[in-house]
Amino acid sequence: MAKKIVIANWKMNPDSLPKARKLFQSTKKFSSNLSKTRVIVCLPAIYLASFNSKTKNINLGAQNVFWQVSGAHTGEISSAMLKNLGVSYCLVGHSERRALGETDEEVSKKLKALLKSGLIPILCVGERERDSQGEYLGILSNQIKSSLFGVDKRDIKNLIVAYEPIWAIGRTAREAINSHKLHQTVLFIEKILSELYGREQAKKVAIIYGGSVEEKNASEIIKNGNVSGFLVGHASLDPLTFREILQAVDNS
Ligand code: PGA
Repeated sequence: MAKKIVIANWKMNPDSLPKARKLFQSTKKFSSNLSKTRVIVCLPAIYLASFNSKTKNINLGAQNVFWQVSGAHTGEISSAMLKNLGVSYCLVGHSERRALGETDEEVSKKLKALLKSGLIPILCVGERERDSQGEYLGILSNQIKSSLFGVDKRDIKNLIVAYEPIWAIGRTAREAINSHKLHQTVLFIEKILSELYGREQAKKVAIIYGGSVEEKNASEIIKNGNVSGFLVGHASLDPLTFREILQAVDNS
């Protein structure tokens, strides 16, 4: 059975390297006794070089990447730089980056650059709001299709799709999606992936959920939400809360 996945997205936190080290140490400790769960920590880029990519039980992830290989691109970081540092995963298309103007076309270029360098992209998709007519499904479908435009069928097994409805991000467990709605949405995402790549290949894509996953809802969602794991934002900054989420997933 494929391992479950829990990804910590620290976003723009914490504000110093000593604090990052402390948080990483606790995360490492709480990840050490898991048997069925792969833990990935997406750190701010500035801290990536300070952590050993060979750390047992934890994989390093970045939060962003640029699609060009090298050259005059001030302020950007390439997939080769990440790869050479031992980083294995990278978020792409997070809604907070899309809100800053990142387009599906850019997401697609980043995703392809990551695959080419042998990194695993974590493609984030999600609607801003859920309308009763189901228009959000069209939005989701477009996001997935445009982001994966030109991505080869063979590369699909190295992809994680994180379904993160924007309306559920950065809130509380009570405001997160319920597992029934999530289950339906994951079926829809699987259908889109099957249309693009065929059923067999589509089944290899891990689909996870993000948006106010906390210790209170983790267990119920992982059992009934039809997902392979979680992308955890604010709750990953609190080691004890994160530990409970890890355990809920590992025990599921
Ligand atoms: P949240 O963030 O867990 O704080 O809602 C999730 C995310 O944005 O990845």
